[in-house]
Amino acid sequence: MEILHTITALKAWLQPQQDASSKIALVPTMGALHKGHLSLIEIAQQQASIVVCSIFVNPTQFTDPKDLEKYPRPLEHDIKMLQEAGCSAVFMPTVKEMYPHYPTPENWHIDLGSAEFLLEGEFRKGHYQGVTQIVKKLFDAVQPDLAFFGQKDFQQVLMIKNMVKYFDLPVEIVSCPIIREDDGLAMSSRNIHLSASDRQNALVLSRALQFVKDNYHRLSLEALLGQARQMISTTPGVELDYFTIADQETLLPIADQTNKNAIALVAAKVGETRLIDNMLLD
Ligand code: PAJ
Repeated sequence: MEILHTITALKAWLQPQQDASSKIALVPTMGALHKGHLSLIEIAQQQASIVVCSIFVNPTQFTDPKDLEKYPRPLEHDIKMLQEAGCSAVFMPTVKEMYPHYPTPENWHIDLGSAEFLLEGEFRKGHYQGVTQIVKKLFDAVQPDLAFFGQKDFQQVLMIKNMVKYFDLPVEIVSCPIIREDDGLAMSSRNIHLSASDRQNALVLSRALQFVKDNYHRLSLEALLGQARQMISTTPGVELDYFTIADQETLLPIADQTNKNAIALVAAKVGETRLIDNMLLD
């Protein structure tokens, strides 16, 4: 596996693959890799001959400096995991490589549609501008045919698709299923911050989502939302940010269960750690 730190080295390594018209896939990550990330690599390998994984903790998408500071960075371990997964190359640039004038902000603002400001966008102001800014830079560097993202960050995939439309980029965005622990907890790099009791309490998020999925056509919307929110807010150490049943395209709350395109989304603080999860309904 090739380990590349600069855009110049990355482009030089990619050139022969591009000349040979190999299909190139990109899997962008912030590292602290787990089976969720590896599932993206595996799906990418089925669809492309070259799979580049990027590891970059992108400062412009963090709204809380403490969150950025404490974000886990087990680089050696990550490299080993990618090697074992048979990844073709890993791109792990410095902050200066991606943002030469950092910490001076670059001029970046694009129209991501009104869904930018809902849900995560409401709790993390400017988050999706930062996400799309780095993903555009990674797309420019790698020029992938396909890019793989997890449904775990459902709104993120939507925002990236909107960014691709905005610039009319020739890249296919592939959304991949959520990988969960055996007890239902969605895998996340942030899970390592959970204490043993947080870890137990965090299960209420996937349980509440599953409850809504199982009862979607049995209970009223009010009952579904009321019970799910109550399950979460009565769990000790869990502070609910939102639990919503929304349309997958607009992320606005659905009016009724005739909607065939609904998704339940949740965000909550468990102890000191903010977690998100979702489940497609119907
Ligand atoms: P990160 O949180 O490291 O996630 C990298 C990719 O892995 C994202 O597409 C995310 O949705 C996916 N992923 C995370 N947990 C998953 C799970 N349990 N099952 C399936 N996929 C999962 O998301 C980011 O990084 C960043 O915002 C990034 C896109 C790299 C831009 O900086």
